[in-house]
Amino acid sequence: MTLNIILLGPPGAGKGTQAERLVSEHQMVQLSTGDMLRAAVKAGTPTGLQAKAVMDAGGLVSDEIVSGLIGERLDELGDSVSVIFDGYPRTEAQAISLDEILAARGRKLDHVIELKVDEDALVDRITGRFSCATCGSGYHDRYKLPQVENVCDQCGGTEFKRRPDDNEETVRNRMAEYRAKTAPILPIYEARGIVKAVDGMAAIDEVSSGIEAIIA
Ligand code: AP5
Repeated sequence: MTLNIILLGPPGAGKGTQAERLVSEHQMVQLSTGDMLRAAVKAGTPTGLQAKAVMDAGGLVSDEIVSGLIGERLDELGDSVSVIFDGYPRTEAQAISLDEILAARGRKLDHVIELKVDEDALVDRITGRFSCATCGSGYHDRYKLPQVENVCDQCGGTEFKRRPDDNEETVRNRMAEYRAKTAPILPIYEARGIVKAVDGMAAIDEVSSGIEAIIA
């Protein structure tokens, strides 16, 4: 049986961190629109060129672009893979598109997992974040350092990078976008009885346990 879950929460809530764990524990596939857009920016595709300035300012890329990316990626994956939607949907229009995209592929949403966090802590989390330049594994200056200094736990890589949008000003814009456009989609899923909240302020392992209990 395939699972289709959304990880929902503001920037820095831990969506990517938890998605990474679900991928390695359950062989699920992480569909992060942020990662897809960053790949498009890096490759210099027309989508990337359109998205770059919006992302750098902490705004939202157009609904058509991101829903198009999700549909294409699901088609590549086929029917038998369980997926985690990370950073999508982010607007009511995207939530409507996701329903259509899933229905057209014989899928349905199982859980919307809301990572509940204290916004004051998020700037600290995001400005301390870095990742392996080789495999993308995520780390933090204080909360999740590599076990061996400057060596990636996953792939042994020694190059690390930080995101250009991980500065305080942009993070505050991203949070405002979340409050204005993303938080209002929760009631859509609450009305269907599929929202489960997890305390995203707990330690990373505890958050994972909370998610495991939901999808078990
Ligand atoms: P995106 O890449 O999706 O960024 P985001 O939603 O702002 O989320 P983040 O990646 O910043 O946070 P996260 O929740 O994954 O946190 P993480 O696990 O890394 O989007 C970037 C941009 O792309 C958007 O601004 C927009 O422009 C565009 N975009 C993307 N999707 C779009 C869409 N659908 N529509 C329109 N535009 C779109 O954790 C953060 C740090 O905290 C890490 O260092 C981690 O180690 C640490 N940490 C995690 N959990 C814990 C914990 N429990 N305790 C202590 N530290 C923790």
